[in-house]
Amino acid sequence: MNVYITRKIPSSAKELLESKGINVKEYPKDKPILKEELIRNAKDAEGLISLLTDKIDKEVIDSLPKLKVIANYAVGFNNIDVKYANSKNITVTNTPDILTDATADLAVTLVLTCARNIIHAEKFMRDKKFEGWKPKLFLGYELRGKTVGIIGAGRIGIETAKRLKSFGTKIIYYNRSKKIDFEKELEAKKVTLKKLMKTSDIISVHLPLNDKTNCLIDKEHLDLMKSSAIFINTARGEVVDEKYLIRLLKNKKIFSAGFDVYFEEPNVNNELYKLNNVVILPHLGSASFEARSKMAELCSQNIINIFNGKRALTEVKI
Ligand code: DGY
Repeated sequence: MNVYITRKIPSSAKELLESKGINVKEYPKDKPILKEELIRNAKDAEGLISLLTDKIDKEVIDSLPKLKVIANYAVGFNNIDVKYANSKNITVTNTPDILTDATADLAVTLVLTCARNIIHAEKFMRDKKFEGWKPKLFLGYELRGKTVGIIGAGRIGIETAKRLKSFGTKIIYYNRSKKIDFEKELEAKKVTLKKLMKTSDIISVHLPLNDKTNCLIDKEHLDLMKSSAIFINTARGEVVDEKYLIRLLKNKKIFSAGFDVYFEEPNVNNELYKLNNVVILPHLGSASFEARSKMAELCSQNIINIFNGKRALTEVKI
């Protein structure tokens, strides 16, 4: 059996596969593989480990006739035409759970970084501008007593809420279904998206990207935010009307925003570099040593299971 890995990921993925006698080839460069190259290099592969930067569309799927399983090295799978893969009897898997803590930690990091002007304060120090304590230097917001609006109460949304609750915040959430345990544990309240946008001091987005969530947080919703609001997105850029959000930030209509993901990733809207009320990160949600190794192993284990005629541990269901 053959597996193709589209980028260098922790070596445990390759080691686990090879320990089961599977041949592994990987793209040696640390940049996204071109579609033609992927098709050429993976043509004999029964298993594929793909990244969120690889578009696995009909053309790719049709060009890899032996493929049985696509193991995406991410929890998000909007880069894969899952429906089409499934119609060709190809199983698609992702890496949920194991990156939840890493991503929730990052969302909270962005909240605090935005709330306390950390980036600018740090740059101020490096620019050697510090002349001593000043009563009004870089004033920001405390979290106690603030309302946190979680958009998408899946695993990562819930873990982010738990962390923020410990700062003395009140949790409201927008989700398709009611989350009874979440409500009990955190006294969280389910509200409409409009109510959430209007009443939250801190908004954190945790929605998967699909047809229903694409640009869900549009102009109309964004206009409802408080002038003191902090808006954080660690999910997918396309769920928000990014251009309009940037306009609000430019006109100081909200306090601050933290971006880990972008509308046209990997391209970043140039305006963002010019704004001093944003924190911009290079899609680091799952970027912990722990999460990335576990993700590699889970991808391989899913492939091994499929090769052995078993169910994958984390098959994507749409
Ligand atoms: C994922 O796995 O989908 C995340 O976006 C990685 O940070």
